[in-house]
Amino acid sequence: MAAVAHGIRTVGVIGSGQMGLGIAYVSALRARVPVLLHDRSEVQLKKGLAFMDKLLEKDVAKGKVSSEDAKDAKDRVTVVSAEQGLSGLRDVDMVIEAVSEKLAVKEAIFKELSAKLSPEAILATNTSSISITKIAAATIPEGQTAASSEGAKSASRVVGLHFFNPVPVMKLVELISALQTSRDTLDRARAYAVACGKEVTTSQDVPGFVSNALLMPFINEAIMCLEKGVATREDIDKTLKLGMNHPMGPLQLADFIGLDTCLSIQQTLYTGTGDSKYRPSILLERMVDAQWLGKKSGKGFYDYD
Ligand code: CAA
Repeated sequence: MAAVAHGIRTVGVIGSGQMGLGIAYVSALRARVPVLLHDRSEVQLKKGLAFMDKLLEKDVAKGKVSSEDAKDAKDRVTVVSAEQGLSGLRDVDMVIEAVSEKLAVKEAIFKELSAKLSPEAILATNTSSISITKIAAATIPEGQTAASSEGAKSASRVVGLHFFNPVPVMKLVELISALQTSRDTLDRARAYAVACGKEVTTSQDVPGFVSNALLMPFINEAIMCLEKGVATREDIDKTLKLGMNHPMGPLQLADFIGLDTCLSIQQTLYTGTGDSKYRPSILLERMVDAQWLGKKSGKGFYDYD
């Protein structure tokens, strides 16, 4: 297949948590594209930028990145404050949204993006399980319909670009087409992911796509093993690490992803398919009730400093 130019001169990243920050990092360092990083929390933005500095410093110290490239990458990232809001992303050629896994929040963001950005701008979401087709439908302008040319054009530039955590390390991006996504949007989004140094697989817009339709039942089974007392948390993780060469055991991985994120993906899989094999375990639900969210909250299946 001939390489397609992505044509992205500036990218906007919404959300500066672990995913958004990682996407901003590979965009600035690998794709070498100016990044407008937006988060409605100033504290989160500061935390994100400090983490990026730390990563760049580490890569320079290890000789993986030259200090010149690190400085250029840093200079490519500009913050868009809560006060500026999504209007601050007005001139970008592509937005990649990486906020929490809540459909209503994503729909509101995409509706606003569609009203504020050029109709040519690509609107990508990093969702790990929510219907891209539903998010695309939220971009249809007031007074238009899904079948009108303006309505269809707006929805056709929405696409799923699913990165994996930690984004600077994981080599994959899953590309998901909504029912409405155009060929041009798909080709350019793929080319952009490649420019970020990633390999790309494609998935249909089904709950969880390929990655989480396979990963989440695996994690859930591990939690149910623990719940039933089949083995200790250490032995469940050790079995998969040493027996199957997984870099992390499933309970450790669940903590790493975030137990709230695991639960919300599992709920999307369960309600989206109606298949009982995706029903989240009660232990996972209770741990999220208790705000034991894994590594980010200091407590999950394991304790963290
Ligand atoms: N950001 C950037 N880089 C990071 C990082 C982070 N958060 N965490 C670790 N790294 C880097 C380290 O700096 C190190 O880089 P160098 O080789 O340059 O030093 C490298 O990763 C290895 O790190 P460590 O030596 O500290 O630790 P490790 O060898 O145990 O590797 C790991 C850590 C890469 C996270 C590894 O344990 C792993 O691959 N775990 C599985 C991760 C995974 O499955 N991710 C996908 C989750 S699913 C998802 O994201 C999508 C979804 O929809 C839920």
